[in-house]
Amino acid sequence: MAKQEDIFKNVVSHAKEYGFIFPSSEVYDGLSAVYDYAQNGVELKKNIREYWWKSMVQMNENIVGLDAAILMHPTTWKASGHVDAFNDPLIDNKDSKKRYRADTLVEDYCKKLEDKADKEIDKARARFGDAFNKEEFITTNARVVEYLAKKKEILSRLAKGMTDDLQDVKALIEELGIADPETGSKNWTDVKQFNLMFGTKLGASAENAMDLYLRPETAQGIFVNFLNVQKSGRMKVPFGIAQTGKAFRNEIVARQFIFRMREFEQMEMQFFVRPGEEMKSYEYWKETRLKWHLSLGLGKENYRFHDHEKLAHYANAAADIEFNFPFGFKELEGIHSRTDFDLKAHEEYSGRKLQYFDPELNENYVPYVVETSVGLDRMFLAVFATSLQEETLEDGSTRTVLKLPAVLAPTKAAVLPLVKKDGLPEISRKIIEDLKWDFNVAYDEKDAVGRRYRRQDALGTPFCITVDHQTLEDETVTIRHRDTMKQDRVKITELRAIIENEVSMKNWLMKM
Ligand code: GAP
Repeated sequence: MAKQEDIFKNVVSHAKEYGFIFPSSEVYDGLSAVYDYAQNGVELKKNIREYWWKSMVQMNENIVGLDAAILMHPTTWKASGHVDAFNDPLIDNKDSKKRYRADTLVEDYCKKLEDKADKEIDKARARFGDAFNKEEFITTNARVVEYLAKKKEILSRLAKGMTDDLQDVKALIEELGIADPETGSKNWTDVKQFNLMFGTKLGASAENAMDLYLRPETAQGIFVNFLNVQKSGRMKVPFGIAQTGKAFRNEIVARQFIFRMREFEQMEMQFFVRPGEEMKSYEYWKETRLKWHLSLGLGKENYRFHDHEKLAHYANAAADIEFNFPFGFKELEGIHSRTDFDLKAHEEYSGRKLQYFDPELNENYVPYVVETSVGLDRMFLAVFATSLQEETLEDGSTRTVLKLPAVLAPTKAAVLPLVKKDGLPEISRKIIEDLKWDFNVAYDEKDAVGRRYRRQDALGTPFCITVDHQTLEDETVTIRHRDTMKQDRVKITELRAIIENEVSMKNWLMKM
């Protein structure tokens, strides 16, 4: 079996080689944790965004969309708590001059303890076979008990240090003997808080310039527009506002390709409910969002919930939907019950009322909010990495195939004339002219047809339509299915319906 690291490297190189993702400004050696979506990547990303939009906005009468500006009045970020509290604890290594997140260093140490425990569990499972009882083993095996207890103790000290005193976090790093992962040096500075927002300036002259921030989340654009949307749309609580858009964070540790970026895109929805009804709504959105992910067919076993024990100051419940990325289970989406914190804070800082008059209760209140927030780039990585597969075929040869959910595939069908003569290219072009109104389709006449099939497999194209000499006689073509490689002979007039059946959002979303 290929190692996780190799699988991940393969994902990154495939994304580049086949025109999905390039490092930003690569001619200047790139910019750390910033990426560009290339000709195929931009289509896949757009399709994921549309799949989300369709299910959240178009399919829900009481959810509407918004596209707020990236630049917002700076007081927004004071009210939201980002100016004072959107920090990561950073630590520098004095010898290597490398900068790390102090909490990540400690968490990585704990991950090693967890890996050691897992190794013992795997060994015991192999030894005892069907009779193996994991629950019993992890509570009785001395080594596993020790590893897991140590991990728990370290994480609880870390959590305390993060809230009470960052010097305790440094002491913890020193006590555990944690070294710079790249150089092995243990010569650390103190731990300092580092604000993750990018600053910028508005205005032409230095004296009059106003300090602004690039938004670190799209959510605040929704909160400050809450009343505008409610009034102009005559919305009744409960209702939601959804938006997709760029967010910026000056991440200290930006790694793992597009998993943690400095410029990324979020798809967020704030659902406004009556105070007291938020927990019901929170449970509903947890389940609904998981169903949305599952509808893409990437495998139920690849998702799990992680309920937060330690809550942010504004939340009374929070959970992540974690996905099994090539480097393990990590957060893909957050669902947060944000109480009335944000609207109340904007009321206080703006001096304006952000309240709803509930005609059924005959009273005004600040609604409570349940938020769903998923990273579009993380969705892209989840879909792309899971779909990329190496298959050994019956004749012993291998093929690389990107088994993207057909609804998300950048190109839905490629039309291939068997040879570049005898009128076959002309018929192929006619088919393209007809299909391109409904689907993104491609024309390809270069190389032998077998090689063209492999290229489309690697691009994730669900269908290849081949025009051959029989087409001249009876207006039929072959249609090849990417996943099974099965070919059917069909009439040209049937193509649209066959493709539509596989790629229509309706058919995919009905699986929710
Ligand atoms: N409004 C809530 C919010 O922003 P978050 O957990 O900080 O919550 C939500 O972010 C989602 O945004 C995450 O689950 C993740 O998918 C995505 N995300 C956050 N930071 C990211 C980054 N640096 N790069 C890529 N995606 C990121």
